[in-house]
Amino acid sequence: MKLLISAGPTLEKIDPVRFISNRSSGKMGYALAEAAAKIGHEVFLVSGPVSLPAPAGVETVRVESATEMSSEIKSRFHDADVTIMAAAVADYRPVAVAEGKIKKTAGNLLLELERTEDILASLGSMKKPGQILVGFAAETSDLIKNAKDKLSRKNLDWIVANDVGRSDRGFASDSNAVTILSQSGQKIELPLSGKREIAAKIISIILA
Ligand code: CTP
Repeated sequence: MKLLISAGPTLEKIDPVRFISNRSSGKMGYALAEAAAKIGHEVFLVSGPVSLPAPAGVETVRVESATEMSSEIKSRFHDADVTIMAAAVADYRPVAVAEGKIKKTAGNLLLELERTEDILASLGSMKKPGQILVGFAAETSDLIKNAKDKLSRKNLDWIVANDVGRSDRGFASDSNAVTILSQSGQKIELPLSGKREIAAKIISIILA
């Protein structure tokens, strides 16, 4: 099967030396790509800025912003059997990128932000029969309720609900504990373990 996977944060420029980003390490998305490639699938990884090496046997392209991630993902989406959006895409970016470094003044600085595209929701509306679309829900409260809402709102087949408010799992951690929910009502809990182990289980559940 052909898998398209996104990973890592996006980086939204403020000026030539500053940006807005988030704490995503890319580890979960890279582990998913590695797990799928290991069992013989063709994997294309679109990665935000992270310090991880490209997984063995995985064609990897690196991007910075949500806009760049969107165009890389969308240009390959039609060809993918399974698409997994594990990236922590920025929801907002500065309205304007200053050409020169912003100098400090005595007063406060007000930064105006605008919405980025919800890439996963766009894919949900582009999806053709037979294509499987998987999202992540990074939450600090009401994990299952919010994940179920995203599953239906973004027209997904599966959502991986991830509690990112605890230090032993999610974002920068090497371990994770997730609940996988399907459009058809399945609910599978994967208890705390290494991200590699969690990734292998997610891949086998989704491809089953
Ligand atoms: N996502 C995306 N494009 C965005 C924001 C999020 O494709 N601009 C995708 C993520 O890759 C993830 C899913 O949407 O698979 C859910 O991301 P999350 O940050 O949990 O939720 P949001 O949709 O941003 O909703 P909220 O900020 O209200 O929690």
